[in-house]
Amino acid sequence: MESFVWEWGSLLLRWLHIVAAMAWIGSSFFFMHLDTSLKRTPDIPVGEGAAAWQVHGGGFYEMRKYFVAPEHLSPDLTWHKWQAYTTWLSGFVLLAWIYYAQSRLTLIDPAVMDLSAPAASALGVGALALGWLIYDRICRSKLGESETGLAAVGLLAITLVAFGFSQVFSGRGALIHTGALMATWMAGNVFFIIIPNQRKIIAALLKGERPDPSLGKQAKQRSAQNNYLTLPVVLMMIANHYPMLFGSKATIPLIVALVTFSGAVIRFFYNVRHADHARSPWWAWAVASAGLAAAFVLALVGSAGGRSVLGLPPQAEGPPVTTLAAATPPDHVVELVAGRCAMCHAAEPVWDGIGVAPKGVRLDTAEAIGRQAEAIRLHVVLTHNMPPNNVTEMTDEERGVIAAWLENTAR
Ligand code: HEC
Repeated sequence: MESFVWEWGSLLLRWLHIVAAMAWIGSSFFFMHLDTSLKRTPDIPVGEGAAAWQVHGGGFYEMRKYFVAPEHLSPDLTWHKWQAYTTWLSGFVLLAWIYYAQSRLTLIDPAVMDLSAPAASALGVGALALGWLIYDRICRSKLGESETGLAAVGLLAITLVAFGFSQVFSGRGALIHTGALMATWMAGNVFFIIIPNQRKIIAALLKGERPDPSLGKQAKQRSAQNNYLTLPVVLMMIANHYPMLFGSKATIPLIVALVTFSGAVIRFFYNVRHADHARSPWWAWAVASAGLAAAFVLALVGSAGGRSVLGLPPQAEGPPVTTLAAATPPDHVVELVAGRCAMCHAAEPVWDGIGVAPKGVRLDTAEAIGRQAEAIRLHVVLTHNMPPNNVTEMTDEERGVIAAWLENTAR
């Protein structure tokens, strides 16, 4: 019963988190687009504001932006902040739900560092808080004055963060924490900088004073940072479902750097394009593709490294899936899997906290194991994603036995 409650909690939290994130990122995209598409208009003095026209849902919108503030402010102001707060709060609870409450399965990999559950959670939360403080300092420093400089330092920081996390957490734990820190920067930018600055601007206006223009500029800097972080963050959030990305501790930081870079370059393309279609920087796609191709190669190298540790010959091309899919394993493989996997992957799992076979993958009969041959290759041989953090202490020799079965079947 308890495990069903955990599963439902996880489902509902994830639902909320995804919907809130869609609303937040949607508004971030919208306002970046709006800002870049603004054109001068005769009825707003030069340098004071601009306007853009849009058509949507059968009507026309004339959007006007006042760079500092209009003379008369409407009392009906829509604030855009709860999308960000809800995304961060639901994300944090989800992180705690999956990675802190069930850390033995998800966060702690004794082969990386044998942390206790409280230590692992404290390390995760502490890193998020410290990571925000350092990031905020960097943005306020001299470096923050140059947009390109800040982007370069940001990319370096993200790479170092991924490296740090990969030294203490499981691969998926490292990726989700890297993403969570980037998301904390984004939400922190809204909560600590953008919204407070907007409040100060409004307070000055109400007093009949001219607001300090640097407040608006600082808010704009952080909002642009958020915009560039959106695509990489979303990738980090789904990355933990793709063990190829964290097959090797050594390749994690570079893979993170490459996908972050590529995601930001794709955002750059759209930001320029929205300002002026004729100037669309098509080269950005070539650069982003090159970055992603490099990440792909690294992910391959990462798992090939795993193979050589096992003493297996490098495999240029996997054997045909069809042969493997129908391959019924010999008895010693069935026994091995029963001892290392079937306590979770069975019709009625006996592992504490597992209520149904995870992801519907059952490994309790020879036939069922045969059907999962390709998945077993991916999660046990090519990567060490299963058993999760090696909770059932599968040895390298045993992985070798499974690998040999898959090889033989292929021939
Ligand atoms: C302690 C419980 C446990 C043990 C033992 C275990 N698994 Fe899993 N397995 C899980 C969980 C939990 C998931 C779901 C992971 C997720 O949601 O990303 C999973 C997922 C999988 C998947 C599907 C992955 C996907 O993303 O589609 C495969 C295949 C798999 N396990 C194979 C194995 C094999 C083979 C073994 C034994 C060598 C094994 N597992 C041992 C808990 C376990």
